Amino acid sequence: MSIYARLTGVGGYLPGQPVSNHDLAARGIDTSDEWIVERTGIRFRHLAAPGETASQMAAIAAGGALDMAGVASANLDLIIVATSTPDYIFPSTACILQGALGNKGATAFDVQAVCSGFIHALAIADKFIRSGSHKKALVVGADVFSRILDWHDRGTCVLFGDGAGAVVLEASEKPGILASALHADGSLVDILSVPGQVRNGKIWGDPFLRMEGHAVFKTAVRVLASVAEECCVAAGIASGDVDWLVPHQANIRIIDATSRKMKLPHEKVVTTVARHGNTSAASVPLALNEAVRDGRIGRGQRVLLEGVGGGFTWGAVLFEF
Ligand SMILES: CC(C)(COP(=O)(O)OP(=O)(O)OC[C@H]1O[C@@H](n2cnc3c(N)ncnc32)[C@H](O)[C@@H]1OP(=O)(O)O)[C@@H](O)C(=O)NCCC(=O)NCCS
Repeated sequence: MSIYARLTGVGGYLPGQPVSNHDLAARGIDTSDEWIVERTGIRFRHLAAPGETASQMAAIAAGGALDMAGVASANLDLIIVATSTPDYIFPSTACILQGALGNKGATAFDVQAVCSGFIHALAIADKFIRSGSHKKALVVGADVFSRILDWHDRGTCVLFGDGAGAVVLEASEKPGILASALHADGSLVDILSVPGQVRNGKIWGDPFLRMEGHAVFKTAVRVLASVAEECCVAAGIASGDVDWLVPHQANIRIIDATSRKMKLPHEKVVTTVARHGNTSAASVPLALNEAVRDGRIGRGQRVLLEGVGGGFTWGAVLFEF
C-alpha cells in the first residue's frame, strides 16, 4: 500500500496593517499607485514591526495549521522552515520555531531556495513521509524581506511584503501529494540576489536585494510553465485537469502568463498578490491558506503549487486535497 503525504492543516500570518502604494509614495518613495498596479498588480503589502522575526511569524502560522489538523506540536517528527531572512545565521529558524512550539526531538532544519523555498520544503517533506521515516511534518515559509530591501531602490522595494504560511502533512493511505519537481540554474545567481555576508563582525558586500527585473520576469514565465507541465506529466494528469493553481505571488503579469500557457482560466487561479505583495517563501502557503479557509479549495480537488526565486530556483508540487 502506498503512503501519501496528506495536507491536514493550513495556517497563515500577515504582520500589522496593510500598507498601500499611496502610503509608500507618502513615505517619500518616488513611485505611484498607478505604476505599481500596472506593472505588478500589487496594491498593498504587510510589513513586520521592528523587532518581529521570521520565527515569531512562523509560530503564529504554524499554530493555525496545527489547530486545523488537530495535531499537537509535541507529536511532530519533522519541522522544515523555508526562509531567506532567518532570525540568526545559526541555529536554523526551524530549531528556533521548534523551541517556541515546545517540540523536542523532531528533525528540524531550514531550506534556502528564496521565493521557491516553500515548494522545495514541501517536496522534501513529502519524500521523508513517503519513505516511511516520518509521519507528521510541519512545513513553513516565513520571510521578512522588508529587512533586506533597499528603500531607496524604487525598482525593488515596492514589490515585497512580510508574512508566514504553514501546512501540516501527515502520512496517510489517502492521497496526498501526487508529484513534485524541483530545479535550479546557478548560472543565474546574479539576476536576483542579496550579494553580501557578515565577515569578522562587519557587513561585506551588499546586504540589500538586487534584481534584474526583465531577466527575472522572462525566466520566471519560461520555467513556471514548463515545471507545471512536468509535474502534471509525472502525476499522469493533463494540466487542464488541475482544479486550482496556487502560484508564487510575485507579479500578476507572471501569474497570468503562466496560467495562459497552462490554458487554465482565471477562476482556477488563486491570487493574493494585490493584497500581500511578494512575501517570498510565505507567498504560496499564505495563498493556499486563504483559499482553503474560504472554502474555494475543497477535499478531493487537485491543486498545483508552484514557485520561482533567486538561485535561480523553481519547482511545483501537485496534490489532491
Ligand atoms: C520589476 C518590474 C515590475 C519592472 O517593470 P518594467 O516594466 O520591467 O520596468 P523597467 O524596469 O523597465 O522600468 C521602467 C521605468 O519605470 C521606472 N520605475 C522603476 N520602478 C518604479 C517605481 N516603483 N515607480 C515608478 N517608476 C518606477 C524605471 O526607473 C524606469 O524609468 P525610465 O524608463 O525613466 O528609466 C518587472 O521587471 C518585474 O516584475 N520583474 C519581475 C520581478 C519579480 O517578480 N521578482 C521576484 C521574483 S521571485
